[in-house]
Amino acid sequence: MPEWRPNRTEFYETAVSMGFYGREDAGLTGKKDNVRKFWEDIFIKLAVRPIIESKISENRKLRILDLGAGSGEGLELLTHIPPSNPAKNVKSDFILKQSDIEMYKGIDISPSMIAQGRSNYREYGNVSFDQGNLEDGLMPQVLREKPYDLYFSTYGSLSHLHPQSLEKLLGQIFRHSKSGSVLFFDIHGKYSPAWPKYWGEKKTMLPYTMAYLVPGDKRKEENVEWFNLCYWDINDLRTLLNKAASSAGAELNFSFMLDRSIFISRHIDTGLMSTKPMPIRYQVSRLLDHGYRGEVEHLILDLKHLEKFKNLNPPAWERITDYQKKWNKIIYLLEALMNSEDKKVQDFIENTNIDLMSDELKFITWLYRNVDRFPVVDFWASVIGPQIAVILRNIEMSYTEGVGCGHGILCGVEILK
Ligand SMILES: C[S@@+](CC[C@H](N)C(=O)[O-])C[C@H]1O[C@@H](n2cnc3c(N)ncnc32)[C@H](O)[C@@H]1O
Repeated sequence: MPEWRPNRTEFYETAVSMGFYGREDAGLTGKKDNVRKFWEDIFIKLAVRPIIESKISENRKLRILDLGAGSGEGLELLTHIPPSNPAKNVKSDFILKQSDIEMYKGIDISPSMIAQGRSNYREYGNVSFDQGNLEDGLMPQVLREKPYDLYFSTYGSLSHLHPQSLEKLLGQIFRHSKSGSVLFFDIHGKYSPAWPKYWGEKKTMLPYTMAYLVPGDKRKEENVEWFNLCYWDINDLRTLLNKAASSAGAELNFSFMLDRSIFISRHIDTGLMSTKPMPIRYQVSRLLDHGYRGEVEHLILDLKHLEKFKNLNPPAWERITDYQKKWNKIIYLLEALMNSEDKKVQDFIENTNIDLMSDELKFITWLYRNVDRFPVVDFWASVIGPQIAVILRNIEMSYTEGVGCGHGILCGVEILK
């Protein structure tokens, strides 16, 4: 028998062809950049967590319908929510386990997404994907199923629908659900600082592009592909939800409507629907990364180019500028710390009248003063940067009433019958 010899280069050929040896962008850019993982996903997880915790406490398995599910990103997200009290749950990383789910069904219009979703979750008997166009409402086979506990949709899938189709879909959901079911979704907000040119637009559907996935230096305006989305005014959205509910004989208990990704929209960076690209998301991804430092001069928010639009929606403008002020205070402090301007730091903390923020400012300063205690290689990259990003994120999450100025409006409603 010939002696078996492993073909040592074969494995490497395969690994290279599968892209494992491509240039690492280390989470600074791309679909699943650090901002998506540690800001946007976390925002969604923390908003949906009380709903999941309360459902799980009923000791029943959950039925989840994901609308515009892609390849099942929603399932991944829902099954990776950290517990609200980690100290009490040291043994369990996440609150919802696959075994807590009676059924997860993902609906999507794209055959490739459906095929990918089926392949991703092929070993799970409680997970299925159906192809369907939500523009036509829920498919007959879905309407025949038992009600779901959670009607779920993330990252703007429902923005693809014309308002009339969304109203019809919502009416179907409200009829199909049972009392206590929850609808949780996000949808594009109209008054994001990423697309000021839409703030005064009367048209219902307006262009959007995913050209942010192409790195800026390779992006050419003439090659950018556009498709239409509906950008929602938050009051119009609330009215539509109530109208669909009353036509279905249901009542809605609004748990929250929040603005997500106000300054870290991917299109803040591209500037494709504005006059001024600002690399804020990229810089926040650097902050969140343990190997990179944020470049402070690029993190300061200068919004002068938006001032001419401010009268189009005063509440949105007020929110944007309030958040901008808080954001910039954190960045100025970071800059002073980085430049070891002790006097400036002290004056800043002692003399700035910012009640709500003083804890955050003191905390950053404490971190700075305790730099030697952290056993890391680059204190700025590994400790300060991620904490600064989390503080910026938490300020966004501290606004409990959305005004429609986020890339997404995150909405949670309980359906009562
Ligand atoms: C931005 S992706 C979001 C995917 C996923 N929910 C996530 O969290 O990443 C939007 C998804 O909506 C789907 N979609 C767009 N229009 C749709 C329609 N009319 N009916 C069903 N799905 C649709 C797309 O195929 C795509 O998978």
